Parts: sequence; C-alpha cells; structure tokens
Amino acid sequence: MATEKTLNDLFLDTLKDIYFAEKQILKALPKMARAAQSEEGKAGFLQHRDETQGQIERLEQVFELLGKPARGKTCEAIQGILAEGEEIMEEYKGTAALDAGLISSAQAVEHYEIARYGTLKSWANQLGMKEAVSLLDATLQEEIATDRKLSVLAEGSANDKGSQKTAS
Ligand SMILES: [Fe+2]
Ligand SMILES: [Fe+2]
Repeated sequence: MATEKTLNDLFLDTLKDIYFAEKQILKALPKMARAAQSEEGKAGFLQHRDETQGQIERLEQVFELLGKPARGKTCEAIQGILAEGEEIMEEYKGTAALDAGLISSAQAVEHYEIARYGTLKSWANQLGMKEAVSLLDATLQEEIATDRKLSVLAEGSANDKGSQKTAS
C-alpha cells in the first residue's frame, strides 16, 4: 500500500520545485539582460535578478520554518520555458523582434512563478503557517509587479522596433 501523503508533503515538494526554478532564473536573467537591445529591457532584467536573489533567501526562510534543509527538485517546466527563451535569443539575434521575444519569454517565466507562489501561499494559509504566508506573498507581489512592468515594456518594444510597419 502506498504511504499516505499529505498537504504538508505537497507543500514541501512544491517549495523544492520553485527553489530549483528560482536558481535557474537567477542564472538566466543576466543572459537575458546581455541579450536585450533596449536599455530599459537590460535594466529591468538586472533589477529582477537582484529581486530573485532576495526571493531565494525568502524560500530558504520558509524551509527553515519547516525545519527542512533548503533543497531544490528538478523542475522540468522552468527548464522548458528557459530553453525556449534561449532559442529565441539565438534565432532572433540582431533582429528588430528580439526584445519582443525576450519579453514574451520573461512573461512566461513570471506566469509560472505567479502560479506557484499563489498556490504555495494558499497552502501555507491552509496549513496555518502565518510567517510563510507573508514571505510567499512578498515574493508573489514582486512577481506580479514584474509581469506588469514587462507588459509595459512589451507595448513599447512592439510600437517602436519590433513592428514590421514602415513609414510611408
Ligand atoms: Fe522569482
Ligand atoms: Fe520572477
């Protein structure tokens, strides 16, 4: 008979998933900053890199609250999303659509994170882990804010360079 798994186990497994994901994102953001053509894009990716460092530390605090070692668990979803981003960097290098592509990859990352942190926050709440709720919510709010900034950048880049329209 299978051992009984609880919401506590699911919470810990999902925490490991996002911990792994954040570490991959931390490595990917400087590459995206180097690839970005616009100054706002570069600055935005670097700023989020710094935030990501803080988010990793918050996750370590949540592991500590659980009395568990901070350990990642391979997250194939984030590996796939980041691999697509690298493909765009290669295939659109030097083109007018590069930044639009980078922003779209970054938004896919943010949406994954928002999904994970939203779930973790709600489970922490159900498990009565008040401190974890506020740590997870702090990161969730940063991810939401980043997603909004990316939407603004996307409109800018689509309007100037990425567009194929030529002035007549
Ligand atoms: Fe993050
Ligand atoms: Fe993020």
